[in-house]
Amino acid sequence: MPTPDPLDAAAPVATIDLDAIAANAARLRTRLHGGADLLAAVKADAYGHGLLPVARTLAATGVRWFGVATPHEVRTLRDGGVAGRILVFGPLPAPALPPLLPRGVDLSVATTDDVAAVADAAAPLRAAGELREDVPLHVAIDTGMGRIGPPPDGVAAVARAAADLEGVRLEGVWTHFARADEADPAPTDAQHAAYLAALDALAADGLTPTLAHAANSAATLAHPATHHDLVRPGIALYGHAPAPDLADAAADLTPALTLDAPVTFVKDVPAGTAVSYGHAWTAPRATRIATVRLGYADGYPRAASNLGDAHLPGGGAARVVGRVCMDQLMLDVGDADLEPGDRVTLLAGAGPAGAATLAARLGTIPYELLARVGPRVVRRYRGGGSPSSGDAPG
Ligand SMILES: Cc1ncc(COP(=O)(O)O)c(C=O)c1O
Repeated sequence: MPTPDPLDAAAPVATIDLDAIAANAARLRTRLHGGADLLAAVKADAYGHGLLPVARTLAATGVRWFGVATPHEVRTLRDGGVAGRILVFGPLPAPALPPLLPRGVDLSVATTDDVAAVADAAAPLRAAGELREDVPLHVAIDTGMGRIGPPPDGVAAVARAAADLEGVRLEGVWTHFARADEADPAPTDAQHAAYLAALDALAADGLTPTLAHAANSAATLAHPATHHDLVRPGIALYGHAPAPDLADAAADLTPALTLDAPVTFVKDVPAGTAVSYGHAWTAPRATRIATVRLGYADGYPRAASNLGDAHLPGGGAARVVGRVCMDQLMLDVGDADLEPGDRVTLLAGAGPAGAATLAARLGTIPYELLARVGPRVVRRYRGGGSPSSGDAPG
């Protein structure tokens, strides 16, 4: 375990419980329908939890598939020794392909041009002996997400190109749900029906991908018929419900990240004292204000001004008052006994300072709050049984 850096006493710290992530994966696995395997969405630095520690932990529990958004994430995983399959969730521009293909990667494609670009990049690598296998391609179908891929009636051309061109192979056909986190199953059922019809039409043309996959966390939890060969959960692995409607379905998952930050200054103020930029908050009574070394540059949203809560070390919660600054925020701690060096907790699992609570207050989702926990925040890992446990810069 690395020696703790004394400077970290001044920093916000995200403590990530790798055992909780492993346990969440195990719980999700127990719900998989029809022999589906699990692809862990680890994009965006594993939703702020740390790409390599999370991927290594999951790989050690038997997770064989990882989902990312960028070629840099593929490189980080491979450089970090992660050996599983890695699927990039969107098409990549041609210049990114030659350095990536020899590392071993599954690519999403949305057009025949995407397929041709991969085939073109693969050809010289094959000739040079740097690529031994055809590049596995996963054709994205837009069944209602409105993001990437042809509509169902356009998928045959892309799949045909993937099946026929040299250097590539048709590995998967996938879709993504827009509303699987809502209580009404109808929009997801309609998307899934369109997806099944597209798979049938492809099969009638002799195009049978090895892998069909569609389910994000919400569909993994609430729509077992969509599990097919792979499910692709992200947020559920990190212990959060995709949306309040799925809180019960996610009740056995454990939030893995807790953010804490040091108090740097405490003062008693009379009623009428204004706090922070714009004087957006004025003390309604005599109270105690604690300044905390956490701001929007660390990923704590400025929109949480006058809306966020922090858990205090002695118990209870205190409101974020006045505008959140770049590096600091202020709490109205009432008569709580706090002093500089004490640490307050934010974005914890549950309760008033929980990511889900704050997300609901801000009209956003826990995903955004977690993924934005910034690089200045020290990551501290618990569990996981890997050498990555211990302190690490974000
Ligand atoms: C293609 C794809 N699959 C799976 C996921 C994981 O989604 P969630 O975190 O809701 O499970 C995402 C994330 O947005 C995605 O873009």
